[in-house]
Amino acid sequence: MIDEARAEIQAAEDARALQDVRVRWLGKKGRITLELKGLATLDPDARREAGREINVVKQQVEALVEARKEELARLELARALAAERVDVTLPAAQGSSGGVHLLTKVTNRLLDVFASLGYEVVTGPELETDHYNFEALNFPPEHPARDEQDTFWTEDGRLLRTHTSPMQVRYMETHEPPFKVVVPGKVFRNEAVDATHEAQFHQLEALVVGERITMADLRGAIQEMADALFGEGTRTRLQPSFFPFVEPGAEFAIWWTHPKTGREEWLELGGCGMVHPNVFKAAGYENVTGFAFGFGIERLAMVPYGVPDIRWFYQSDLRVLRQFRGAL
Ligand code: PHE
Repeated sequence: MIDEARAEIQAAEDARALQDVRVRWLGKKGRITLELKGLATLDPDARREAGREINVVKQQVEALVEARKEELARLELARALAAERVDVTLPAAQGSSGGVHLLTKVTNRLLDVFASLGYEVVTGPELETDHYNFEALNFPPEHPARDEQDTFWTEDGRLLRTHTSPMQVRYMETHEPPFKVVVPGKVFRNEAVDATHEAQFHQLEALVVGERITMADLRGAIQEMADALFGEGTRTRLQPSFFPFVEPGAEFAIWWTHPKTGREEWLELGGCGMVHPNVFKAAGYENVTGFAFGFGIERLAMVPYGVPDIRWFYQSDLRVLRQFRGAL
């Protein structure tokens, strides 16, 4: 009988099953209880003998149940611990961390270059007045040069600035020469959007004003920027051009090796020139000269990093953005 009980007890897989076994053997109608009750039919000698035996079995069953109970509790604890086990040798969970946008990296790089050349960095409003964006920069009303810089107007007659040049006049109104400043910022044009034209993009403007600033200083500044960005001795080029707020005016380019094609070519960057006397007049300056240049930052990111479509900069597509994590 004890072997049978032991087998059932061992087979109980959890506390509930064990309790069932216990009731089956030791409960009110359990096998042991019934055996004890059956003693009543025996004569006194046989009853004593059988009673002792049954009681021994009863105690054994009780002890086996108790032992199995403790064993199940230990197993349960071990299972729980195993389920909560932490492997401290696994690599840490990779949270997705953000990064600096390629345009921001290129802008920061440019600002570093100019800061090292002694330029102050200033910024201005994106929502401008006609006065600062055009008039004070020597674009009279109806001037054809305005056509190239169509933009978005608000109902009160203001506009989203078409270039960073308005900051030239704003800065001069509140500062005295001599100075060197650069102005990074967002600009807007009413463009038919395509791979190389966006309605918003970024420019960097430079303005240097002093008593005897010359075209040679302008050339030197562009040369220093080229040297810093592309290496000492990089060739630069100025070609005559027209902007109402400079005289003479030019477009400038940097000779470089295209990283994809391996070809050497001119990278056309932007416009430059000597500050027009009318601009100094609008700013209230006399007896100074100066130069300015400005260029698009997207171009300086697209061409060197092989970004074929300007719209990709603004789509926040992680597949694009992640490619430049290691850049600069
Ligand atoms: N503001 C001009 C443009 O956006 C560029 C420029 C800046 C030209 C400074 C001359 C001097 O086209």
